[in-house]
Amino acid sequence: MDNQKLKYSEISLQSTNLNIKALTKENSSVLFNLYSDANIQKYTDIERLRSLSDTQKFIDTENKEADNQDLIFLGIFSRATKDFLGTISLFNIDQKHSFASLGFQLVKDYWGRGIMHESLNHFIKFVFEELKFHRIEAQTYIGNERSINVLDRLGFTKEGQLRQNFLIEGKYQDSYLYSILRTEFLKSPL
Ligand SMILES: CC(C)(COP(=O)(O)OP(=O)(O)OC[C@H]1O[C@@H](n2cnc3c(N)ncnc32)[C@H](O)[C@@H]1OP(=O)(O)O)[C@@H](O)C(=O)NCCC(=O)NCCS
Repeated sequence: MDNQKLKYSEISLQSTNLNIKALTKENSSVLFNLYSDANIQKYTDIERLRSLSDTQKFIDTENKEADNQDLIFLGIFSRATKDFLGTISLFNIDQKHSFASLGFQLVKDYWGRGIMHESLNHFIKFVFEELKFHRIEAQTYIGNERSINVLDRLGFTKEGQLRQNFLIEGKYQDSYLYSILRTEFLKSPL
């Protein structure tokens, strides 16, 4: 794949059970529901969307930024039912040093089924193999056990604890910094 020309909004991946691809305006309502859910907002830094038209603009903006390789923002969909299940993002992309930060959210009804594990396993492989990134980081609030489990299961390493850099429900909380390197994930250098 020629990464110089690849618009990140054109990324489309298929795993055993999932389609992972850019959102369109038709997905505004499901994205709005996900991003308005207190279970999701509590632990993440996601955009606070106030309306459907806000959400449409948000999708548009994300896709434009993805066209410029400034970020990756993709929806997760069931291959069987076509249902929208969640989102994955790669942001703070640093092309010079070849690293970026990972974000992920799943609709609450789909928690506990391994969907995020399958999505990220597939996505991270793509980011390392095809986009040739060297390092992926993830930050998670120290009380976010589900997120910590996801990162542990994927083989991320906990690098340390960041002090009070996460404002949750009006209180500053610590977070963990996790990372994984291409060589670790692919088990051998490209
Ligand atoms: C973080 C979040 C995506 C994790 O969701 P999740 O459902 O726990 O994660 P997965 O989809 O990988 O599923 C893992 C669970 O499915 C189970 N599972 C079932 N089948 C599985 C399979 N084939 N493979 C892996 N896990 C499987 C696992 O045992 C695990 O259950 P457990 O936590 O009870 O042990 C979700 O809690 C969320 O959206 N949280 C709010 C947003 C957020 O915090 N994002 C991260 C910010 S850094």
